[in-house]
Amino acid sequence: MKARVKVFLFTEYLMCLLLALYLGINFSNNFNLENFLFMILILFIINNVSLFFNSITNIVTSIVLPVLLPAMVLLDPFWVAIIAGIGTIEIKYRDNSFIWYKFVFNRTMLFLAGGLAALVFNLCNNLMDLNFMFLPLLIASLIYFFINHFLLYTVLRFSENERSLYFIEISKNLISSYFLGLVLYYSYSFFGKVFFILMIVLIYVIKDFLYSSLRQLNSYTQIVESFLKVIDSKDNYTEGHCKRVSIYTHILCQEMKLRKTLLERIVNIAKIHDIGKIYVDDQILKSSDNLSIEEYEKMKKHSVYGYEILKDIDIMKEDVDIILNHHERYDGGGYPYGNSGDDIPLGARVLSICDAFDVMTTGRSYKPSMNKEEVIEELRKCAGGQFDPDITEVMIKLINKDVFDDSFKEIEENNNYQLSLNYS
Ligand SMILES: [Fe+2]
Ligand SMILES: [Fe+2]
Repeated sequence: MKARVKVFLFTEYLMCLLLALYLGINFSNNFNLENFLFMILILFIINNVSLFFNSITNIVTSIVLPVLLPAMVLLDPFWVAIIAGIGTIEIKYRDNSFIWYKFVFNRTMLFLAGGLAALVFNLCNNLMDLNFMFLPLLIASLIYFFINHFLLYTVLRFSENERSLYFIEISKNLISSYFLGLVLYYSYSFFGKVFFILMIVLIYVIKDFLYSSLRQLNSYTQIVESFLKVIDSKDNYTEGHCKRVSIYTHILCQEMKLRKTLLERIVNIAKIHDIGKIYVDDQILKSSDNLSIEEYEKMKKHSVYGYEILKDIDIMKEDVDIILNHHERYDGGGYPYGNSGDDIPLGARVLSICDAFDVMTTGRSYKPSMNKEEVIEELRKCAGGQFDPDITEVMIKLINKDVFDDSFKEIEENNNYQLSLNYS
């Protein structure tokens, strides 16, 4: 263990001892054995049944604070600190590696956070003399979260085990913990212990449900990122093209005011819409501007290949039709099936315009990139034929609003660079 970690831990243990002495002497009179044992037992059971785990940020969001908030109202700070320190002990059946200093650190950290939060609640409550305790409990929750995360963050930084704190996630946890704490407190004080336990079971069911959807969303993003790497390893241009198309898709979907969930799904699929090209021969991919009829037929299969790759992934099932249809035309003249109009999924109609927009603005070796006016003209020409006319109008509106000017600027710079190379 590093010397600075030792110094930090020693300081923390010392603070914990001082706080225990201070609270023990001044804030331990209000004690009810029944409430104390009930709270400590509930916390212990909750911590050992399952922990709520946030898959995106890896911050453990247990239900410690919601149980501590009612305890703060019912007991003196000294007993709340003991509940926080001891009630949170976890018995890990599968993990035999018991590290004593980690164990002591967790106990003292929770003792400090719980004890100081309860002390502040006590002082605020006496000072404000309010019949309802929403504000003192909110202040106590802030103190608990601050101390908890500060100690955790510092010890991890000192041991050079880098870990970022996601303040948005922490704030969300703080707000949800605070409201859960209020619900639990009122359940306990108005309806008794049985109702309190029922509320905790209900919270578990809801949280588990929320967690499973969060995990699903996370694995969706991970799958997309992995496929992006596969595309990149095969063909660098396609990766860049897919990324740009997904950005355009995002902007267009926002302007169309699509539901957030639908928008996210279309944008995620846009990121890998040409995934099927990994099955197309390198030779065909690299000379994609100058293909024979036979080679072009092979290239056209990439939308079906993409569909085949993703169709068996459960969480993508609903969206693979977008990939399958992204080269269909509004007038029915596209491929692979010649679908037309609204038979083409909305996501595919959006994607098709953004896909073409990227091709127009980046150009091909046989065809230079187009400027703003030329792109608008081309889109107008293709509205109702290749593209959905309504979505095309939204896209043109965005171009006119200069939303995509960066893309045009980059292209102009590239063209000027090419020009100067040709003349040098
Ligand atoms: Fe494509
Ligand atoms: Fe594409």
